[in-house]
Amino acid sequence: MAFDGLITWAEGLERSLDAKARLQHWMGHEPDSWQVEAFSVRPPASALPGGAVASEVAMRVGRQSGKTSVLAARCVEELHVAESLSLCIAPSERQAKIIAREVTRQLRRTDLVVTRSTLTELEMSNGARVIALPSTSDTIRGFPSVSLLVIDECAFLKGDDTEDVRGEALISGVLPMLTTQGQVYFSSTPAGKNNYFARLFLDENGRERLDNDLHRIVVKGTELPRLSEKVERMRRTMSATRFRQEIDVEMLSDGVSYFDISAIEQATNMQEGAICPRM
Ligand SMILES: Nc1ncnc2c1ncn2[C@@H]1O[C@H](COP(=O)(O)OP(=O)(O)OP(=O)(O)O)[C@@H](O)[C@H]1O
Ligand SMILES: [Mg+2]
Repeated sequence: MAFDGLITWAEGLERSLDAKARLQHWMGHEPDSWQVEAFSVRPPASALPGGAVASEVAMRVGRQSGKTSVLAARCVEELHVAESLSLCIAPSERQAKIIAREVTRQLRRTDLVVTRSTLTELEMSNGARVIALPSTSDTIRGFPSVSLLVIDECAFLKGDDTEDVRGEALISGVLPMLTTQGQVYFSSTPAGKNNYFARLFLDENGRERLDNDLHRIVVKGTELPRLSEKVERMRRTMSATRFRQEIDVEMLSDGVSYFDISAIEQATNMQEGAICPRM
């Protein structure tokens, strides 16, 4: 084997053994540690060496940090599993297309062979499929045996008048399609408190949940040195409240209120409680 061929072979071997090397190769960027963590979480039956084990993953990460990139890489990983079915859902058609485009871009860096492609679906020669749909699609229910479910921009799912928690009707409609060994990723920047995504992080009193029901990843844009210039630009152009939500990933009250009641309560001691009585 020529020397160049040997290097290619060794790199391929490294990728087959190392999740971070695969992620870096497919994304085309040195991944952040939170991206490696998110990519490496697996359900119990298919745990990776050194990776966390969880069937549900919730990523609450600042704007432009690389959420969609890592979700797409997780789909590409799943496409290596013969006959698997990955379903990617986003609130709008435009957002569903963004994740589909990123999956397609990363697929070019693999040996997988696409045998069928439609506007919403790609099928590989090993029978694995990935489907990207907006949450508004009529065809979102009824897929058999979904092995990977990805919900991008989850906090922005539109609700209907019948639900108390926005996004709950859609998510409770699609979750039953997951196989028992399947995995679901919820990913977003926050958008208020009264939605399904927020409930993954906050308890009924609006405090951060500490239970281990799912694997939570929380990353502020300000924690990522590579984003510092972008973050400072966003600080200058966004309102302070918007920055707290979109970059510092704070779960603020929904638009109807200018005051975050739970924050006021936490800042109020017992003596002052009467100033801000619980309604
Ligand atoms: N680890 C990384 N290093 C450098 N660039 C990265 C990394 N991860 C992603 N990117 C790049 O950052 C940009 C934003 O990535 P991506 O769209 O995945 O972020 P996002 O968090 O989904 O953004 P948004 O909040 O707008 O949905 C893209 O150009 C992507 O290629
Ligand atoms: Mg995105």
